Amino acid sequence: MATVGKTLEGRVAFVTGAARGQGRAHAVRLADEGADIIAIDVCAPVDDTITYPSATPEDLAETVAAVEATGRKVLAREVDIRDLAAQQQVVADGVEQFGRLDIVVANAGVLSWGRIFEMSPEQWDTVVDVNLNGTWRTIRAAVPAMIEAGNGGSIIIVSSSAGLKATPGNGHYAASKHGLVALTNSLALEVGEYGIRVNSIHPYSIDTPMIEPEAMAQVFAKYPNYLHSFAPMPYQPVGEGAEGLSTFMTPEEVSDVVAWLAGDGSATLSGSQIAVDRGVMKY
Ligand SMILES: NC(=O)c1ccc[n+]([C@@H]2O[C@H](COP(=O)([O-])OP(=O)(O)OC[C@H]3O[C@@H](n4cnc5c(N)ncnc54)[C@H](O)[C@@H]3O)[C@@H](O)[C@H]2O)c1
Repeated sequence: MATVGKTLEGRVAFVTGAARGQGRAHAVRLADEGADIIAIDVCAPVDDTITYPSATPEDLAETVAAVEATGRKVLAREVDIRDLAAQQQVVADGVEQFGRLDIVVANAGVLSWGRIFEMSPEQWDTVVDVNLNGTWRTIRAAVPAMIEAGNGGSIIIVSSSAGLKATPGNGHYAASKHGLVALTNSLALEVGEYGIRVNSIHPYSIDTPMIEPEAMAQVFAKYPNYLHSFAPMPYQPVGEGAEGLSTFMTPEEVSDVVAWLAGDGSATLSGSQIAVDRGVMKY
């Protein structure tokens, strides 16, 4: 493939939750744009309160193969984002191998369902500990290495529509994703002087293993008024290839936004919240 026009040539990206779903799509897309990739994923069950199937080492191996197929290099490791020391180690090893760190996609996260006033402490703690505390640990591990490399860069924090609006039935998830907005915007002000930009993305309904239609159907059957908070998306793609895209978006559609935020085309943005929702949050 010709390298002309690759927007991220020579840069290095750290992607968390990269074994499957959106994280894999982002790793492959950034590699396609010319970046070498540091990819981590827990590749194991996170907690008993997370009911959908977990990612596996084979999933991460598939990501590695897909990144390598673009011609870029990848350092992949099984790391839990709740483990700061392990993230610092993989970042150090990645910088040693690839020479720098320019892009962070803090994407790893988990979801479960339940009402705030009924859920177990374990259910609350797991979601907040991975999504908010774990993402902070990603930032804590990566930012000093980016500053040290001295090339500026772009950090993309993967929040959710639930980071900008209420989501009854998973309020702990919404709390964790709202927390990421504060992290994004405070960090944007702190690292601006180093030429580093920080923005959050807020996807809605992406077709990945995290989405359990049955679990959602059970919640909505029990509490039909919650459905208002999970409305159908108003904008619908039309034309060839648009069939099947009406209920969910694809991870690759989110990667389009991530690649843009990672690159110089979004140089005027820092401390922004980018909805990736086909307009649904305007309801
Ligand atoms: N799918 C959606 O509709 C949707 C919507 C908005 C936001 N999001 C967010 O997008 C991100 C990606 O989710 P996805 O939809 O691709 O789901 P997914 O479950 O397919 O992918 C999440 C990945 O993160 C990994 N992960 C989870 N906990 C981890 C930990 N402690 N340490 C390291 N890796 C860990 C998982 O193993 C998995 O590979 C998440 O932050 C999620 O909250 C998803």
